[in-house]
Amino acid sequence: MEQKIKSIEAEVTAFAISSKETLENFRLKYISKKGLIPTLFDDLKKVSAEEKKNAGKLLNDLKQLAENKFKTSQTELDDSSASSSADIDLSLPVIPNRVGNQHPLSLTRYRIIEVFEKLGFNLADGPEIEDDWHNFTALNFPPNHPAREMQDTFFIEKNPDRLLRTHTSNVQIRLMKQQKPPIRSIMPGRVYRNEAISARAHCFFHQVEGLYVDKNVGFADLKQTLYHFAQEMYGKDIKIRYRPSFFPFTEPSAEIDISCLICKGNGCNICKHSGWVEIAGSGMVHPNVLKNCNIDPEEYTGFAFGMGIERVTQLLFQVNDLRLYSENDIRFLKQFKTVM
Ligand code: PHE
Repeated sequence: MEQKIKSIEAEVTAFAISSKETLENFRLKYISKKGLIPTLFDDLKKVSAEEKKNAGKLLNDLKQLAENKFKTSQTELDDSSASSSADIDLSLPVIPNRVGNQHPLSLTRYRIIEVFEKLGFNLADGPEIEDDWHNFTALNFPPNHPAREMQDTFFIEKNPDRLLRTHTSNVQIRLMKQQKPPIRSIMPGRVYRNEAISARAHCFFHQVEGLYVDKNVGFADLKQTLYHFAQEMYGKDIKIRYRPSFFPFTEPSAEIDISCLICKGNGCNICKHSGWVEIAGSGMVHPNVLKNCNIDPEEYTGFAFGMGIERVTQLLFQVNDLRLYSENDIRFLKQFKTVM
């Protein structure tokens, strides 16, 4: 018996395990239920008590030896199959290192900023979580204005009210409180409205606010500034029109339309067959708003506008579904490289 154990021990030690198959062969031959070592344990029952003592110990050692060898070989094989240099094919082309690109709305935003910076507008910024005063009251909204309703605006707290700003006009107030005229700034940012999401509406979108307050600023300045902007953005052939409108914080107020670039004014879905697309609200800053910011309306006047960045982008790239801008679909996003 002892002899047999020793010769198997020599075999186990010498057994070369170089692959998963040889490992399995090793297991079947020595360790598995019908393997040599369990068979030896069966044989052990048959020998005399005296022989059993010594042979038992040798057999247990052999069992240990075989099991250890199996385990270490198994982990070695697992590790090497994970990162075996033999598996690397150096002739394969490299995985391309994809460089991202700017979001179409960012491209438009930068272009808008660039156009207005050349006219002497500087860049300003304000909070997206705003109080009632900056978003509504200082902008001359009456207490019962519908925009103050829960179904139109996202409120975060009531009494005192804190909300997600519904437009970038809050930054007008912050600027006029902070500095004295002349003020000539543009203020891009995200705004929020409680709307069901569809191709034409979203619960958030982007605006660029513009504000120019100085002595002798008139409606002609507003018209010419935005006409210049439209030409820089869309080319010299663009047409622009002002429609009378109403905002509590401007008087007079106008909505600004540009000729539809998609159908060249012939009528399509984007312009709702009118040939015109609205891109901004605008007007002369209301005297009450200037007073709320301690600016004397007898001395200073100003114009303001609020432009939808999605709208401006839609006409540049002919994208007619607002949802695409926030779905993060790489197939959509990678199509936009530059503006003009
Ligand atoms: N705040 C207005 C809106 O969101 C746009 C606007 C800005 C109108 C500035 C006039 C002046 O609809």
